[in-house]
Amino acid sequence: MTAETLVELKDLQVHFPILRGVLVDRVVGHVKAVDGVSLSIPRGSTYGLVGESGCGKTTLGRALLRLVEPTGGTAVFDGVDLTALGSNAMRTMRRRLQMIFQDPLSSLDPRQNIESILTEGLATHGIGADRAARRALVGETLDAVGLPRWALSRYPHEFSGGQRQRIGIARALVLSPDLIVADEPVSALDVSIQAQVLNLLATLQADRGLTYLVIAHDLAVVRHICDTVGVMYLGALVEQAPSAELYTRPLHPYTRALLSAVPVPDPDVEDRRERILLTGDLPSPANPPSGCRFRTRCPWARERCAQERPELRTLAAGHTVACHFAEELE
Ligand SMILES: Nc1ncnc2c1ncn2[C@@H]1O[C@H](COP(=O)(O)OP(=O)(O)OP(=O)(O)O)[C@@H](O)[C@H]1O
Ligand SMILES: [Mg+2]
Repeated sequence: MTAETLVELKDLQVHFPILRGVLVDRVVGHVKAVDGVSLSIPRGSTYGLVGESGCGKTTLGRALLRLVEPTGGTAVFDGVDLTALGSNAMRTMRRRLQMIFQDPLSSLDPRQNIESILTEGLATHGIGADRAARRALVGETLDAVGLPRWALSRYPHEFSGGQRQRIGIARALVLSPDLIVADEPVSALDVSIQAQVLNLLATLQADRGLTYLVIAHDLAVVRHICDTVGVMYLGALVEQAPSAELYTRPLHPYTRALLSAVPVPDPDVEDRRERILLTGDLPSPANPPSGCRFRTRCPWARERCAQERPELRTLAAGHTVACHFAEELE
């Protein structure tokens, strides 16, 4: 681990037991929501995690913060293995790892006004000498996210979707975190508002040296704000590359299929671009296919893909792919 690495996941796993029986106490299998993910995030950078619904993105983010317990592997944050911390130490550490959510309305308590929402975490973590100091901090944070001071006495339902997301960002920011896990931060917002919120995240990162893990369905959303993008399928990473490289030279058939669903503004490019339609449903993470997990939906799948699970291989600087035939398909 280099000095600049803030987050290092090694073979992280979250397997949820599937319980059956009259007493619901018989384990009949496991949902392998996260099944051996390794990645690292340099301090001050943005890592984008993309993939279809149900592939394990949220579970990975929550496992990093230990909002769900990992069942295997390690999550090292600033040199500390979070998976080995006791619950008190983890609670203290959590100030430094904050999360923002897709739907700010359901993640903000409707009965609390904005001042109470923003000061709650300060009290929990003992930040600010007195009420005046906490008010000053909350005020500065509102300025930083572009909300007026009068917002303090209002309630979440009095704001628009974009403003509510700013409140969610302020709630995280007021604790001066090192890392923010942003779980689909703009997917509930109108397209015109999405860019404003993404720009705000970029500005805050530049001003405060924040590190982001941004989760999204949509490759178009993460394109401009991420340094590195990881593509997840059924609980595992299938490809990872510097953002510009992933978009210009996607190597995994799944990444190419995801990208082929993103329209290109230039009509000539749009006419020529490759379209790969994914057929079939996402298999169950309780019972993933043998060999390559993507093979049941891959137009190029061959015999070997059913037999042997492809490991992530490095094909260019920082560019890894889990496909036996990536070079041939390019
Ligand atoms: N607490 C839980 N208990 C059992 N299974 C769970 C639990 N949380 C998530 N899962 C399952 O784990 C898998 C991954 O879910 P997760 O929410 O992490 O996916 P996601 O990639 O965030 O999807 P989306 O894009 O829809 O938000 C799914 O099959 C889900 O049903
Ligand atoms: Mg999710």
